[in-house]
This record gives sequence, structure tokens and C-alpha cells, in this order.
Amino acid sequence: MNISGEIERRRTFAIISHPDAGKTTLTEKFLLYGGAINLAGSVKGKATARHAVSDWMEIEKERGISVTSSVLQFEYDGFCINILDTPGHQDFSEDTYRTLMAADSAVMVIDGAKGVEAQTRKLFKVCVMRHIPIFTFINKLDRDALDTFELLDDIEKELGIDTCPMNLPVGSGKDFKGVLDLQNDRIVLYSDTLKGTKEGHSETLELGDEAAVAARIGQEALDNLLTERELFEGAGASYDIDKVRAGVLTPVFFGSALTNFGVEIFLREFLRMSMPPAPRVSDKGVIDTVTGGFSAFVFKIQANMNKAHRDRVAFMRVCSGCFDPSEEVKHVQGGRIMRLSQPQQIMADERKTLTEAYAGDIIGVFDPGVFSIGDTICEPDDEFRYEGIPTFAPEHFSRVTLLDTMKRKQFVKGVTQIAQEGAIQVFQEYQTGMEEIIVGVVGMLQLDVLKYRLVNEYNVDIRLDPLPYEYIRWVDNPEEVDIAGMSGTSDMHKIRDLKGNVLLLFVNEWSPQMTIERNEGLKLSEFGRN
Ligand code: G4P
Repeated sequence: MNISGEIERRRTFAIISHPDAGKTTLTEKFLLYGGAINLAGSVKGKATARHAVSDWMEIEKERGISVTSSVLQFEYDGFCINILDTPGHQDFSEDTYRTLMAADSAVMVIDGAKGVEAQTRKLFKVCVMRHIPIFTFINKLDRDALDTFELLDDIEKELGIDTCPMNLPVGSGKDFKGVLDLQNDRIVLYSDTLKGTKEGHSETLELGDEAAVAARIGQEALDNLLTERELFEGAGASYDIDKVRAGVLTPVFFGSALTNFGVEIFLREFLRMSMPPAPRVSDKGVIDTVTGGFSAFVFKIQANMNKAHRDRVAFMRVCSGCFDPSEEVKHVQGGRIMRLSQPQQIMADERKTLTEAYAGDIIGVFDPGVFSIGDTICEPDDEFRYEGIPTFAPEHFSRVTLLDTMKRKQFVKGVTQIAQEGAIQVFQEYQTGMEEIIVGVVGMLQLDVLKYRLVNEYNVDIRLDPLPYEYIRWVDNPEEVDIAGMSGTSDMHKIRDLKGNVLLLFVNEWSPQMTIERNEGLKLSEFGRN
């Protein structure tokens, strides 16, 4: 197949959800349909199985969670699908956000009994910032779920996106009868397929044949369904593929990942509605995915996948063209022509040596310490930079004290390297400078990782004193405002990042807005510029 055909058939998406909504189960079912695995549950189950997947870091083993995000690639119906898995645990890190920078669309899994939850809300903000299409799967309909209206309303209000149901559930929990396919006006009857298989019969009923429908699902369920359908026809946003692709309307599907119900329909529809990899913007303009030659950007760096070698792997998203490992490329930020070393496709539990990769694919390459997050790789005779990856707002802050001051050199080296990988953000006091540092992280676990790695890799022990701040804002226009004389709220604390940018820390959610109101012209933002 030619380059354009290969790119055209690629779909790269991330799955976002709150822990326990069913992301892992849905992913497994996708792989099952793609024939990538034979039995669901064999890829990545809970606690014990996860150890087998990525046991490279002790902390993961101790906590039984996955700190890293992995990539899964499989084929389905002629499509080549890349799923970017985002860590499901509450202690997710900036990497979870960055993964979304490498995706072309997102699948949002929501627990039908719970509606929109905290982690979904956070990840959703990044999707909105990137205007990527979002496809919603409301899961666990085999258990009692919230009212359909309530669920859709919740998504619209909480996330500020229009919803358009593609199907409507008929009951839930023990009364779950199936879904009404709104496009074709027929009911797909619920059948509890064998767990871990894709076996099972699917039966459909034309809604027009009311007597037959009533005989199967009961008159009451039919009456309720007809009323609901009427309400939706009057109230819901209508399906508009352009709005879906612009990320302002999310198509909503109902189902039950565990019992396999609604999963294949969702996958098929998702593939129909989603787009192949889109061209990305660089400082040289938009780079065409097919004619632009090979290019990629680094969205994640993972250190010490093999502790004995202190190795680092840089994860790159191919943005255009075809990657051929035998050819040289240019690392733009490093100003070097090089061959990417040991290119691999990193799957959950295996690494395959790559022979080729196309726009949309993710590759992992050995990083001798030259890459930084956001770096661009392109053809040797080309030169451009993709837009950088923003710095996401940390939510936990801690003062870091070095216990043995004789080890200052190792300490600075360790902290700087770990910060360069993007696991932590390092700040200093606005006035005093590097005598004391403040570390900011997106997930609390990263603080444990920092302490663990400083001890184990740099032989440096530290004390962490948590700070009460939860909100951080970058000052967008420091040259236009009087930073020294600004009047903030009583909980405001001024700091700088290592590049000298001014930032403000706050304890209370409403303080940033109050500070803006008190200082005319002050502009604050939640994402930092790189
Ligand atoms: P996550 O990756 O989003 O954290 O969720 P995961 O798929 O691990 O699912 C969380 C729990 O919810 C699992 O149960 C899983 O079996 C269950 N689940 C997922 N989808 C459905 C569904 O459609 N219906 C029902 N009833 N349950 C569902 P667990 O007991 O925590 O784990 P396990 O022992 O089943 O693996």
C-alpha cells in the first residue's frame, strides 16, 4: 500500500475516563474484535496482571498501578488503530495530559451510574483546548444507571459540549432490554454474551412493529421508549458530522463493555465518524501528512525502563510521511542529523522492533539524553518546529529540602534531569532563588517517584514538606504589569520557573479571578508556554 493509503486508514485516539468507569474493559473488547488478543482479560487486568505488563519501576509494583501510559496497535476492518492508553489511577501525571497531545480524537467512557467524574473533567479540558473530536460511551447499562436525560444533561453542563445520542437505552440494570438505534429506528436487543469472548447473537426488532416489540420488551418499556424518543427529537442536538469533527458535539452511545453489548457498534461508528491523522501546524505552516515528508514530535520521555542501563525512551508521534529506521533524520532542537536508535513500537507487554511507521503511529526510540518534550524530528534537509506542548498546571506542591548539603551537586543534577523528562516541575521563590526549591506535580504519586528516584539513582535523600497550594497560574503579560507591587489575595504566593517566568500559587479556587480583578490588565493562564 502507498503512503497515502496507509495514513488514510490510521486512527489514533486516547481513551479518557475516571478510574473504574470501564476503560480497560472497553479497550480489551476493542482488541478482541481486532483479533489482537484471543481472550479479554489476558492483556491487562487489574492489580496482579498489571505487574506483568510494566514492572520496570518498583513503585508500580508496590502500589499495583500503572504509572506509565502505553500504546496498543491493532487492525480492524481495514483500519490500523492506535489506542493511547492513559493511566487509569487517580494519581495520574502530566504524561496523561501529554498523551492527549498525540491523539487525533478521544473516546470518553462514563459510568452510567455516576455520570461525569473528576478525572474525566480534567482530561476533557485538554481535548477541548485541542479541539479534538470526542466520542462518548456510557458504560455499565447492565447495572442500574442514571436517567438518560440526566446523563446527557450532566455531560452538557459539566463539560460544555453538545451531545447527540446515537442510541437510547431501553431500561437499565435488571430491566435493561437493549438500545434503540436512533439512526435506523430499530431496537438491538440486549444479550449477555459470554464474558471474555465476542460470541453472542444480536437480535434486532423494527420499532415500527409495535406489537412484536411490546411482546419482547413489555408494553410499559415500549411506552417509555416512545416518549423518550419524542422528547429527544424535540430537545437534543441533531447529528452533524462537521460539528463532531470540530469537537463541539459528542455522539453518545450506550452499552455495557463487560457483557460486550454495544461495543462493536460503537467501534464501527467511531471509525466511520473519526478522521485519519490531521496535518499539524509548525512554524513553517501546516505540514501535509502525506506530502510533507517524515516528521514527528516527542510527547513523552520515560526514564529507566531498564534500571541497569539508566536508559531513557523518547515516545514520538509520527505527524507526517513514513518513518524508515535505516534513514537519517534531523533533530531540530538539537541541531543534529542522526539515526533514531533502536526504534520500537511499545505495546503493553512487548516491544516490537519497527520496520516502518506512518503518520498517526507512535514510536519509542532510545534516548541518550538529547530529546526534550515537544522536540521536532524531520527529514535531514528540512527544518521546522511543531507547536510546543504546553506545560500543564500542577495541583500539588511541596517544598524540597536536601538532607545532606554536601550532595548539592547530585541533587541539582537529579532534580534537573527528572524535570527535563517532564515528571515534575521545578520552581523557585520569586525573590530568593535556588536556595529553596518548590516542586509541582499533577499527581501526588510523582512526589513519591521523585523521592524514590533521587535516593536510588542519585544517592540523595530529601525531605518533602507539602504546601497548601492547589492552583497555579502563569502570568501571561509580566512586562505589562507591576509584579512586585501587585495586590493579590492573602493566599497568593509568587514564584518563578527555571526559565524565569513568573507564576502565582493560590490555595483557593476563586483567588485567581479575584487577583485578576484587583490588578488591571493582568492576564493569567492555566497552561504554560514552552
Ligand atoms: P478502568 O480501566 O476504567 O479503571 O475500569 P475497568 O475496565 O478496570 O473496570 C472497572 C470495573 O468495572 C471492573 O470490575 C470491571 O469488570 C467492571 N466493568 C467494566 N465494564 C462493565 C460493564 O459494562 N458492566 C459491569 N457490570 N461492570 C463493568 P472489578 O470488579 O473492579 O474488576 P474485575 O475483577 O472484574 O477485573
